[in-house]
Amino acid sequence: MSRIYLSAPDVRGREEQYVLEAIRSNWVAPLGPALDQFEREIAARCGVSFAVGLSSGTAALHLALVTAGIGPGDIVLVPTLTFVPTANVVRYVGAEPVFIDVDETSWNLSAPLLAEELDATAKKGARVSAVMAVDLYGQCADYDAIVPLAASHGALLVEDAAEALGATRSGNRAGSFGDVAALSFNGNKIITTSGGGMLLTDRHEVAEHARKLATQAREPAPHYEHAEIGYNYRLSNLLAAFGRAQLETLEDRIKRRTSIREAYRSLLDRYDGVDMMPTAVGSAPNAWLTCIVVDPGRAGTSAEALRVHLEDHNVESRPIWKPMHRQPLFAGARARLDGTADKIFDQGLCLPSGSGMTDAELEEVLSLIDKHLERATTSKAGRT
Ligand SMILES: Cc1ncc(COP(=O)(O)O)c(C=O)c1O
Repeated sequence: MSRIYLSAPDVRGREEQYVLEAIRSNWVAPLGPALDQFEREIAARCGVSFAVGLSSGTAALHLALVTAGIGPGDIVLVPTLTFVPTANVVRYVGAEPVFIDVDETSWNLSAPLLAEELDATAKKGARVSAVMAVDLYGQCADYDAIVPLAASHGALLVEDAAEALGATRSGNRAGSFGDVAALSFNGNKIITTSGGGMLLTDRHEVAEHARKLATQAREPAPHYEHAEIGYNYRLSNLLAAFGRAQLETLEDRIKRRTSIREAYRSLLDRYDGVDMMPTAVGSAPNAWLTCIVVDPGRAGTSAEALRVHLEDHNVESRPIWKPMHRQPLFAGARARLDGTADKIFDQGLCLPSGSGMTDAELEEVLSLIDKHLERATTSKAGRT
């Protein structure tokens, strides 16, 4: 069997047609009507007023901070369990990232620890300028608690919804919780533009500023006039055309990934010491990646042993994001931790979850996991 990937691109709709239409219309240089439409469609899907198509989710996170004027001297709180761009953009603007641990119920920013850090910072006479919340692995953070906390401390709330398009929490949609939010259309995401992202906001002035900054910050003049530093960050019309076709099948993608998750769940329910990433109350994830934790004491095996076993059979699985406070890049950064992210990292694994995975491929992965866990259980029983 050929390699089974963690989350391969799934091209199944009108991608070719829409890209061809964009090429034939000559809107290739690089903005155009497909981008305008894609922005409107994503804004509507996420329940926000404005969307700005960008070259990556990282660019969207970066502009979220730049448009808020965040820079040197500012403190930005970041969940430690995330992919590095969430933290990198804080450094891009010269601000200080402070890492906060995550909660066990959703693996996202812990609201109690966030409250502690906001209060502790205020007591020192300082102020947190922004809070980044991440909707990890397609599940929204605890915004019922996080939104009022950020607001009461006058901190900008940036929602990193890179992985969570289509997820909801308390009936609201991923991308609509932050003052500004970022989506990613990177190749492994639930929909892709091959590479791309979007900044979402209800604030007209933020959207307009981001649009300007993303196109070299040209001032309105017939000549090239620049009063602030700009970037070349816009998503191209061709890629937006591709993204529009992907978006049309978002609901099917969520359904497929959810059914893959349920198949893993029914298998893993039979084994002690192997648990699924939890789904918080009121949360409807998009099931982007199915993640598990393996407790070696109970399961008789480890996440790493399972990963190696799958790899030996040409199946890709991946460790959970390594927490930011353990990255050499952020050595010495301040952090408020309770050990949750460390434990998730030490015991966690992301399983193949792509919506393009065939039933036969899924069966193959399930059977490989089953065999590995069965063997571990038997040899553990032999030892006791
Ligand atoms: C949590 C998170 N934040 C940010 C990003 C950055 O998105 P991009 O790769 O589009 O720059 C990603 C995905 O790659 C991500 O998973």
